[in-house]
Amino acid sequence: MKSVLRIATVDPGEASRNELKSLLLGIDTVWLEAECSRYEFFPDVVRQTQPDIALVNVDADSAAAVKMIAEITSDVPQCAVLVVSSSTEGSLILQVMRAGACEFLNQPLKLDDFVAALDRIRTLRGTGTGGTSESGRVISVAGVGGGVGCTAIAVNAAAALAQTPSVTPVVIDLDLTLGDVDVWLDIIPEYTLHDVAENIGRLDYSLLKRSLTRHDCGVYLLPRPVEIEGQDLIRPEDLRRILSLLRATFSHLIIDVSKAWGPLDLAAMEASDEILLITQLDLSCLRNVVRIMQHLNEHSDLGGRVRIVVNRMGLEDSDISIDRALDTIGCEVFWQLPNDYATMAGARNNGRPLSQHSPKARLTRSIRDLVMRLSANDESASEETPAEKKKGLFGLFSR
Ligand SMILES: Nc1ncnc2c1ncn2[C@@H]1O[C@H](COP(=O)(O)OP(=O)(O)OP(=O)(O)O)[C@@H](O)[C@H]1O
Ligand SMILES: [Mg+2]
Repeated sequence: MKSVLRIATVDPGEASRNELKSLLLGIDTVWLEAECSRYEFFPDVVRQTQPDIALVNVDADSAAAVKMIAEITSDVPQCAVLVVSSSTEGSLILQVMRAGACEFLNQPLKLDDFVAALDRIRTLRGTGTGGTSESGRVISVAGVGGGVGCTAIAVNAAAALAQTPSVTPVVIDLDLTLGDVDVWLDIIPEYTLHDVAENIGRLDYSLLKRSLTRHDCGVYLLPRPVEIEGQDLIRPEDLRRILSLLRATFSHLIIDVSKAWGPLDLAAMEASDEILLITQLDLSCLRNVVRIMQHLNEHSDLGGRVRIVVNRMGLEDSDISIDRALDTIGCEVFWQLPNDYATMAGARNNGRPLSQHSPKARLTRSIRDLVMRLSANDESASEETPAEKKKGLFGLFSR
C-alpha cells in the first residue's frame, strides 16, 4: 500500500483551486495539508507545514510564482514542487524548472497525469511505494463470537504500545451499534466516526487530530457514532480514506471491528497489516475459527494476515485442551492470554487500561508481550525482500 503524500497548494484562482481540491479528495494516497490563495504567504505555509509536495498553480502571476518557487526549493529542499498551468509556453516551463520545480502539468489537471507525477516523485526520492511520510501499522481485532474479549484486547494492546514515548496509537471503534471502547477508556468524546466520515471532504490534518480524544495513557480514540440509525452513511470508501489519513499521522491504528463481518469490517481488515482473530476454547468459538479461516482463504488474501489469539486460557468452564483445540482448527495459535476476570473487569470499570490499573498483573504482562511479538513481526517483515514476502504468503496458503 502506498503511504499518504502530504500536499500544500497555492492558487489565487478560486475556481481552479476548488477543482483541484475535489480532484485531491478522490485520491486515497494524498492528504491536503494546507491551501493558500496568495503567492506571498505560501513559502511560510510550506515552512510551517513541511509538506511532501508543494502544488503551485502559476497562472495568476507567473513571475511572482517563479520567484516563490525558487524561495521554496532553496529553503525547504525536501519538499517537491509540482507546477500546474494552462499555458504550454516553453519559456515558462523552462523558468519554473530552473527555479527548482520537478514536475510541470497542464491545467485542467487530469487524474492519470497527476497520479503518474506523484509516482515519479516517489521514485525520485527513492521511497518506491513507501512514500515520504512514515506510515502507521494497522491491526484489526476481530472475534469469532460475542464477548470473546476483542475490545479488552484492542484497548489494552493500544495502551501497552503507548508506553513507548514515540508511539502514538489510535483505537477505532467499528462496532457501530454497540461499541464500548469509550467506556473502557472512560472518555466522553466530542466527535465520532460518523462526524469524521461526514466531513471527510474537507478534512485536513488539524481537523482530524482535533476530532480524536486522547486518554492520559497516550491512546487516541475515534469512537462509534452516537445514533444507532444512519450507520449506512459511513461507506467503505470513506473508511478507507479515514484510515489512510490516520496512517499518515499515527504510528498504530488498532481497529475493534464488529462481529457482523460486514463490508466496513472487511474494508478495515483489507487495510490491515495484521488481523488478530480472538477466540476462546469452546466449541462454538473453535468451529467459527475454522469457518472464518476457510472463508478468508477462499475469498481473499486475508487469511495470511490472521494471527489467532486464544483469550481467557484457564477459564474453568472450558473443558477443551489447547492441544485438542489446535487439532480442531488446524492452524497455529499466535498467542494465549490468561483468564483474569477480576483484573480485566476492574480496569474496565475504572476506565483505565491494564497498564495503569494493574501494571504488574500476569494478564497485563501477557498483553505487553503479545504487542512486543507483533512489533518483532513488523521488523522482520520489513527486513524481508518483496520476493521473500511473496514466498511466505504462498507458504501459508499451501499449508
Ligand atoms: N483475559 C481475560 N480474562 C478475564 N476476563 C476477560 C478477559 N478478556 C476479556 N474479559 C472479559 O470478557 C468480557 C467481554 O470482553 P469484551 O467486551 O472485550 O469482549 P468483545 O469481544 O469486545 O465483546 P462484544 O462482542 O460485546 O464486542 C468483559 O467483561 C471482559 O472484562
Ligand atoms: Mg466489543
